Amino acid sequence: MGKVAVYALIALASVLVVVRGRRETAKPKREIQSIRKCDLYAGRWVYDSSYPLYNAADCPFIEHQFDCRKNGRSDSDYLKFRWEPSECRLPRFNGVDFLSSLRGKKVMFVGDSISLNQWQSLACILHTSTPDATYTLTRAGGLSDFTFPAYNASLMFLRDGFLIKIETEKIGRVLELNSVSQGQSWKGIDILVFNTWHWWLHTGRKQPWDFIEDGKEMHKDMDRLVAYEKGLRTWARWVDIHLGNTTTKVYFQGVSPDHMNSLRWPNSNARSTCIGEKEPVQGASTNAGLGGQHPAERVVEKVVGEMSRPVHLLRVTRLSQMRKDGHPGMYGLGGHRVPDCSHWCLPGVPDTWNHLLYASLMSS
Ligand SMILES: *[C@@H]1O[C@H](CO)[C@@H](O)[C@H](O)[C@H]1NC(C)=O
Ligand SMILES: *[C@@H]1O[C@H](CO)[C@@H](O)[C@H](O)[C@H]1NC(C)=O
Repeated sequence: MGKVAVYALIALASVLVVVRGRRETAKPKREIQSIRKCDLYAGRWVYDSSYPLYNAADCPFIEHQFDCRKNGRSDSDYLKFRWEPSECRLPRFNGVDFLSSLRGKKVMFVGDSISLNQWQSLACILHTSTPDATYTLTRAGGLSDFTFPAYNASLMFLRDGFLIKIETEKIGRVLELNSVSQGQSWKGIDILVFNTWHWWLHTGRKQPWDFIEDGKEMHKDMDRLVAYEKGLRTWARWVDIHLGNTTTKVYFQGVSPDHMNSLRWPNSNARSTCIGEKEPVQGASTNAGLGGQHPAERVVEKVVGEMSRPVHLLRVTRLSQMRKDGHPGMYGLGGHRVPDCSHWCLPGVPDTWNHLLYASLMSS
């Protein structure tokens, strides 16, 4: 190839780059329309060298338990996977647009430390995309509030493991399947993202109740999935009644899977947990390939599907099941002693949950 041809190619390439750059800023509206009919939750993880969306080092408030790099994790491929729906493209994440759309609004994540995980991911994404905007972070009891005063936007996290009440009575601590926990705090919020699951599994010292009250009956214990469904129905009834006539956007975060047991994914070695996993499950994009649909997700789908008020279910279970590489493992709070295969490193999988939340908010 002659020199002229090479220069011509370089010139052409730079024109293409410019056009591409322009397209990406002009396109979001059309992209967003195209996702309305698309199943965003069916797809695959693709390696993208432009990922992650932010660096943990630029997010000064990130919790120690999610900061896997700082805790010594040295592999980095897990930071590089982007979720790609099979039938459409997710709109490019634009933190400035997202924050602008939240002007004057309150967003609240309600749930356990998996909600904390997603809330922190969103706060990091928005903070790093608007580094000049000042923020405040306050904590009072179980409520954390991250605000952007210039946008009058507030991102809250309300810690609540079950969404239903635990009352201390004479006989002990009672998990009341028929009463929601903190309904008053859920009112007047513009965007609510609920989640509960992991606490329903706790036994022994980690179990924060002694009895389960179901209507007029008091049980020492019961099938946890059955209890979960009853508790969720109580939450659903509350939302139907109290938010039925409001413009509040209500989401259910979906069931976040753990990777404590390798029998749940194909081609696993003799390993029994997420420890040492460095890449997503390959070639298994269906529930069948991942050991069947998660039983808790089935319950959530059923309960949310029967509500009279629309609640958007972020169906993140399957796509997260593929990410056996995304957990802190030994690089979490418990170190080697208590490896963490249930939370997620940040940056990481919860960024994608927020990307899906963003896509849903922008297209509704
Ligand atoms: C800020 O947002 C709240 C609602 O979250 C609203 O009541 C208030 O008027 C807003 N303040 C300003 C200065 O816009
Ligand atoms: C919701 O709106 C309908 C019709 O306007 C009304 O009949 C109903 O009482 C309202 N429900 C609540 C909980 O405010």
